Amino acid sequence: MTSKQLEDDGFVTVEKRFKYMSIGGAGNNSKRSKNKKKNRYVFKDSIDYTLNDLEPILAQRREALGDSQFYKDLLDILEQQLIPTQPQELICYGIGSMQHSKNAQYQFILALLLRDMLKSVEKVSIYDPVMTELDKELSKSYNIDVIETNEDGKRKVSRPTLFYMPHCGRGLYSNTLSANWDKESLPNVIMIANRFDMYVGTQLERDLRRECPYLIPAVELVDCTSFPKEFDDNKVFNDLSVITFPKTSVENVKDSYWDDVPVEKVEE
Ligand SMILES: C[S@@+](CC[C@H](N)C(=O)[O-])C[C@H]1O[C@@H](n2cnc3c(N)ncnc32)[C@H](O)[C@@H]1O
Repeated sequence: MTSKQLEDDGFVTVEKRFKYMSIGGAGNNSKRSKNKKKNRYVFKDSIDYTLNDLEPILAQRREALGDSQFYKDLLDILEQQLIPTQPQELICYGIGSMQHSKNAQYQFILALLLRDMLKSVEKVSIYDPVMTELDKELSKSYNIDVIETNEDGKRKVSRPTLFYMPHCGRGLYSNTLSANWDKESLPNVIMIANRFDMYVGTQLERDLRRECPYLIPAVELVDCTSFPKEFDDNKVFNDLSVITFPKTSVENVKDSYWDDVPVEKVEE
C-alpha cells in the first residue's frame, strides 16, 4: 500500500482489493459502468481492520516519523537524557487504540523505536483499557507483553523503568509516582509524559490535591526535558517530555518529605 492510499485517521483505501470486483449482474448499461468507475475507491472502516490492514499503516507512520525533522531533533534529546538512564523495562500506558487512532499509531511506533534504541530494555509491556483484540494481537506480534489487568498506573519498580505515558490523565501520572514514592524507588522511575509544571502552578491547588497530589511535591524533584516542537498536526507528541528523578535531588530531601504529600480525599 502506498502512502497515497493512506487516508486520514480511521480509514484506509483498499482500491486494489475491490478494483476488479463485479458491481452488478449481467447487462451492464452505461450508467452502471459510470458507477463502476466512480466506485473504484472503497473505504474500509477501522472497525473492520485486520493485521494486514494495520501493518502497512504502521509502516507508513514509521516512515513519516523517521523522515521528520522532529525525530532528528528528538534523537539528540533521547541520546542525552534517556539513553544514559539505561531503563531495563518499558511500560506503555495510555497509548490508546492503534486500530482506531492516528496518535496511537505514531506513539506505538515511537515505543518500538525506543525499544530499538534502548539496548538495555529487556521487556516491553502495554496497557490501555481501550485496546481492542486487534491492538493486543498487534502488540504480541511485536513481542510486547499485554498487561491483562488495570493497574491504574500503580506499578512499583525496583529497577530502572521507562514509563511511556503520552498524554495520559494527570491522575494516572500521580498514581505511578505514588507507587514509587520513596528514596529507593523514585530514581528508578523514568517517564515520557506531559510536563508536570503544566498542572502545578497553573491550576487550583485544591483540584491538584484531590486529583493528582503526588505531582505537587514531584515538580521539585524532576529533571525535565521537553520534546521538540511540531510534528504532523502537533497533537501527537506535543507537550511531552523526558522526566527523570535524579538521585542527587531525591537524596537531598528530608525524610518527612515522603510523608507530607497533600492528599485530599474526594468527598463521598
Ligand atoms: C487523553 S488519552 C491519550 C491517548 C493517546 N495517548 C493520545 O495522545 O491521543 C488518555 C489515555 O489514557 C488511557 N487510560 C485511562 N486509564 C488508564 C489506565 N488505568 N491505564 C492505562 N491507560 C489508561 C485512556 O484509555 C486513553 O487512551
